[in-house]
Amino acid sequence: MRNIVIVGFMGTGKTVVAKLLAQKLKREFLELDAIIEEKEGMSIKEIFEKKGEGYFREIEKGVVRETSEKKGLVVSAGGGVIIDEENFRNLKKNSTIICLEASPDTILKRTGSNTCRPLLNVPDPKKKIEELLKKRETHYKKADFRIDTDGMSVEQVAEKIRTLAQGL
Ligand code: S3P
Repeated sequence: MRNIVIVGFMGTGKTVVAKLLAQKLKREFLELDAIIEEKEGMSIKEIFEKKGEGYFREIEKGVVRETSEKKGLVVSAGGGVIIDEENFRNLKKNSTIICLEASPDTILKRTGSNTCRPLLNVPDPKKKIEELLKKRETHYKKADFRIDTDGMSVEQVAEKIRTLAQGL
């Protein structure tokens, strides 16, 4: 059974949706960022601050490689995971990749008061969101399915993926 890997920009609801979907499908749930934090004994924010983004991406790559060997999981991947070609190739082996999308305003609203995302801890987060979305667009488009989550509840998004997964 192929994994279902949920990708997409920060604040698109990957983790809450993946958790609910795993419950619905009675599958094991994994969150890649949580695995990285456990391995490193630090929060993502601390890893960025103390070791830098390059280090974080290396650890992330290793975790993606390990997870890609497994089957039958529902996985929530950090927003930068499929930007890397090697990560994308590894995930494609055993996984159906679903990308959650949202408008910059929705992303800003959902990530607004939270300071745990180092890439958005900047004076003008909306501008940063727009820039990053533009830069990453072609990569997110490579997912097997894309879902626009604007105006949708977590339940609705999870249900939509469940329906998609039935046909796989
Ligand atoms: C990142 C997204 C974050 C986390 C890190 C980098 C990104 O995960 O992996 O802060 O590059 O988009 P979420 O998408 O779960 O917030």
